[in-house]
Amino acid sequence: MNVLVIGAGGREHALCWKIKQSSKVKRLYCAPGNGGIAQIAECVNIAPDDVHLLLQFAQNKQIDLTVVGPEASLIAGISDLFQAKGLKVFGPSQAAAQLEGSKVFSKEFMRRRNIPTAVYKVFDKADAALDFLKMAQFPLVVKADGLCAGKGVYVCGDLKIAGTAVDEIMVQKIFGAAGDKIVIEECLQGPEASVLAISDGRHFFVLPSAQDHKRIFDDDVGPNTGGMGSFSPNPRVKAEILDQIINRIIEPAIRGMHQEGHAFKGVLFAGLMLTAEGPKALEFNVRFGDPETQSILPRLESDLVDILLAACEGRLQEAKVRWDERACVCVVIASGGYPGKYQNGFAIRGLDQIKDPDTVVFHAGTKNEGGSLVTNGGRVLGITSLGRNLEAASAKAYNAVSKVEFDHMFFRRDIAAKLLREKASHGLH
Ligand code: AMP
Ligand code: GLY
Repeated sequence: MNVLVIGAGGREHALCWKIKQSSKVKRLYCAPGNGGIAQIAECVNIAPDDVHLLLQFAQNKQIDLTVVGPEASLIAGISDLFQAKGLKVFGPSQAAAQLEGSKVFSKEFMRRRNIPTAVYKVFDKADAALDFLKMAQFPLVVKADGLCAGKGVYVCGDLKIAGTAVDEIMVQKIFGAAGDKIVIEECLQGPEASVLAISDGRHFFVLPSAQDHKRIFDDDVGPNTGGMGSFSPNPRVKAEILDQIINRIIEPAIRGMHQEGHAFKGVLFAGLMLTAEGPKALEFNVRFGDPETQSILPRLESDLVDILLAACEGRLQEAKVRWDERACVCVVIASGGYPGKYQNGFAIRGLDQIKDPDTVVFHAGTKNEGGSLVTNGGRVLGITSLGRNLEAASAKAYNAVSKVEFDHMFFRRDIAAKLLREKASHGLH
């Protein structure tokens, strides 16, 4: 088979790495890929949202399966276009991708389907939103409706911050049309968790739980990033909580989308808050998480291509899915300055010193320049290790991180650490 993966980050490197292990795969392409992906796949320089050029490429190269990483390609309608031409593509239709593409769509869907989520109101005028805020109790969360590269959510402790959020989103329009509408919602409290499910539109199975670390600095301080590290499993998602997440959130969402005529084929990613009243959905994403995927896929023992093909063909109930019991930790190494301004082009040294067979280095922002590997993005590498438990996996990952060097590199020193501390004091296991 010929397989095409779309995207350029650590998530796509993890997907390519796992797909490459399948004996069914003859040629593996990635558009556009990165410096690490280029070592295992043929990279082609096509942007993920240039869906027409991607279609042409897939037709020319006789691609048997396309696996879509970023939401932008899905929201641009890549699945509809490929399927209309008879090509197999793993990822939801444009209509189903609205679950991530529009917070208003997603919240209204959750309300219709009785999926537990924060109570909310929708506004399409700044004045009305401000009037509402003046009477409201804080904290509250203000969210732009559309895609904002992860920056459209403001957790507001008081009216002043909420007023700034409304002004930036709806008046200054810093996110463009994504800010035509906003959602104002209750601020939920509790630890966060990510649960991802693969669905063929009707059947689904959940992947092992994970958690990412969104803030740039240790102890969850500083601005949000794309994710500074992750681990799996997430011991807070105990069996009975996972049952609630499946029965109250994932299953009603898959069934609801099917009943409403937008069968969801792909990865349904529930971003959750584990509140005192039980798990609630903060949001849905319609794709693999980044960096959750980096700590989930190394635990998959089965052939990912078989699973994705079964999902594309509506026969997921036949898929055999086995998981490695071990834990996995991914530590992201970023460019100093990220998520603000940073420089590219620094030589990356020391990767050849990582010899542990349980460690894999997923590249995010790297490229090859004149035969050597240089930095080329905010998040540069995801150093990922398996271990018999989270402690062991974390120790291996940080040991590997200590071998890597580039100018101005930055990483969090506490990936999975908070949880390990809690585990020690509450007996989580
Ligand atoms: P979202 O893109 O909706 O997941 O929001 C990004 C981040 O904002 C989440 O991971 C949470 O940390 C935070 N967040 C979003 N919605 C809420 C909420 N209703 N209550 C508290 N925090 C939230
Ligand atoms: N890790 C969060 C995301 O992929 O959106």
